[in-house]
Amino acid sequence: MKKDLITGLEEKIKKLKKERQAVILVHNYQLPEVQDIADYRGDSLELSRIAATTDAKVVVFCGVHFMAETASILCPDKLVIVPDINAGCPMANMITAQDLRKLKEKYPGSVVVAYVNTSAQVKAESDVCCTSTNAVKVVNILKEKYNDIIFIPDKYLADFVSKKTGKKLISWNGYCPTHVRITAKDITSKKMFHPQAKVIVHPECTPDVIALADEALSTSMMCKFVKDSEAKEFIIGTEAGIIYRLKMDNPGKEFYLASEAAVCPNMKRTNQEKILWALEELKEEVKVPEDIRLKAIKPIQEMLRII
Ligand code: 13P
Ligand code: SF4
Repeated sequence: MKKDLITGLEEKIKKLKKERQAVILVHNYQLPEVQDIADYRGDSLELSRIAATTDAKVVVFCGVHFMAETASILCPDKLVIVPDINAGCPMANMITAQDLRKLKEKYPGSVVVAYVNTSAQVKAESDVCCTSTNAVKVVNILKEKYNDIIFIPDKYLADFVSKKTGKKLISWNGYCPTHVRITAKDITSKKMFHPQAKVIVHPECTPDVIALADEALSTSMMCKFVKDSEAKEFIIGTEAGIIYRLKMDNPGKEFYLASEAAVCPNMKRTNQEKILWALEELKEEVKVPEDIRLKAIKPIQEMLRII
């Protein structure tokens, strides 16, 4: 797309955003043109916190569906819209509320920790939510009190948290189709070419990949780690979109994506044209039915209490 066309779109978006009293929240994996017009960029936890406290009347959520649902649960009085209603998270779709009810029946007295990458219906059946930023803290808090902790839906995040906390978790067979594309071989071969580089991966990666990393961090924790680090080179094992933010925020540092295959097609569905359209039409709205919302807000609020 030509730069003048992009600039024209940006100006229109800015003007309309003001008129609509809207805020644009953008996940770290979004396309550069979307990151460029963000009011706030962040990971799932940061964006949930911003959604919970913003004064805006309209929230334009540029991410995937469960993120907008979380915003809608937290601010029922606001209009939450997404530029592309088909931007979902395949991992979130790997467990249903019915699946979770059956699992709970098998483990009476258990507590359910739901990764925020779940539907509102699944959250409504859960006790605490977490993101990859605070998953270890959440389980550390619960592990003395509960024998059985059900951790859904990501089996790899569950494995990572279990190793960090020393607590065996009851997990579900979910995973991120994008992060599993990053292989141990990708890491070792990148390391051969860049032996000085620090290896940072997302905890949604497979255990063999995590074992080769210096750190396993959520996307915003990655941004902070890189900023604070004395290292000049980094091998990044997560979705490709984060490289743009890392480069913008750290001009003197080099970043190597662990795998070119780590692209989440859902995160790439949003662009500036669709954002403008969403603001013009005030669509598509993401609204969680009130009975589900009242149940789902409890585990989300628990999560927001744990820093
Ligand atoms: P973060 O919370 O680390 O941003 O991760 C969200 C996600 O969907 C990772 O694939
Ligand atoms: Fe879901 Fe994976 Fe895409 Fe994140 S990267 S939104 S977990 S499919």
